[in-house]
Amino acid sequence: MTLFDVYPLFPIDIQRSHGCHVYDQHGRRYLDFYGGHAVVSIGHSHPHFLKRVKDQMDKIAFYSNFVENELREVLAAKLGALSGYADYQLFMVNSGAEAIENALKLASFQNGRTKVVAFGKGFHGRTSAAVKITHDPSIQAPINHGFEVEYLPFEDLEAVEKALAKGDVTAVVIEGIQGIGGINEPSADFLRGLSTLCEAHGTCLVLDEIQSGYGRTGRFFAHQHAGIRPDLITIAKGMGNGFPIGGVIISPKFKARHGLLGTTFGGTHMACAAALGVLEVIENELLIENAAKQGERLKAELQGFEGIKEIRGRGLMIGVEFEFPAAPFRKKLMEDFGVFTGSSSNKNTVRLLPPLCVSDEEIEEFLGAFKACLEAVLETVSL
Ligand SMILES: Cc1ncc(COP(=O)(O)O)c(C=O)c1O
Repeated sequence: MTLFDVYPLFPIDIQRSHGCHVYDQHGRRYLDFYGGHAVVSIGHSHPHFLKRVKDQMDKIAFYSNFVENELREVLAAKLGALSGYADYQLFMVNSGAEAIENALKLASFQNGRTKVVAFGKGFHGRTSAAVKITHDPSIQAPINHGFEVEYLPFEDLEAVEKALAKGDVTAVVIEGIQGIGGINEPSADFLRGLSTLCEAHGTCLVLDEIQSGYGRTGRFFAHQHAGIRPDLITIAKGMGNGFPIGGVIISPKFKARHGLLGTTFGGTHMACAAALGVLEVIENELLIENAAKQGERLKAELQGFEGIKEIRGRGLMIGVEFEFPAAPFRKKLMEDFGVFTGSSSNKNTVRLLPPLCVSDEEIEEFLGAFKACLEAVLETVSL
């Protein structure tokens, strides 16, 4: 059997890791400012996380959802306390797309409607409903066209009001900060306006915090900078530091009933142990505070670099837009300087998503490499 060839791969086979660094098959060290797709929140191979997962593996790895599992309760309580959503409920799944699917189902169960409002350049996953609300027809198969979606631009509250006024919109779905779209942040006023409009029209507000959540922007969730409380919040990526786990955080106004949602693997013993390990490290090592501090510093230092058109984002979720295509720059930064960064659907933008534990020395290392690479690239491009 061969692999179904859907990923363009760099010839790097990562064999081991530590903190913000990974090592390939030749022992070469790379500085990871991509976090494996914003997944590595507390750093690679964190000893507390590894111990949590290994200890759990020695006891029981999995049992299904027809018996109690205390770890789930402990995780929900800890997540509620750290995120400021102690009064909300948690449903666990295995990935971001699944979290979106379940959030949309909950919204639709709640108000009986089927239409969704989503936003231009948004990304919400690849499964059926998640990909349908993703603003990219090239990744939607005919079978995904199951319900109506209206894509609107950010900041146009009038357009949102017009869409919601018909009374047929089940949910408005928005990323806390758009990730794959190129690090685009909705304003606090826009988020507050969405919240008010959703409330007024019986529409559920779904905040997709799969990439922007879990402390990455310097608050537990990006939308908390705007002071809103959505109906549903989707989480994944940083939640397990690489262990597959996702979830929907659900407002108390949604009432559960047995059989309403379900999954074989959601919230397994192993996944809960991993997710608890992550929260314990985030809390004990003040990683949210670190993300805010290091992000401010990164942005401030990058401002002084030549060739940069715009710097966007918050905390350790930063987009750097050049005056030229970013792909050759990212390739050179990786091959010649040993630094990983992320791409985006905005071709001129590089995404910076390092682990939340990034240190002063690693910021220095990154800035030195980024600057030298930028100078080398600027010599070859005509602006
Ligand atoms: C904002 C956002 N939502 C949803 C997803 C889908 O998550 P997953 O790939 O775990 O299904 C992603 C993945 O990149 C994402 O960035």
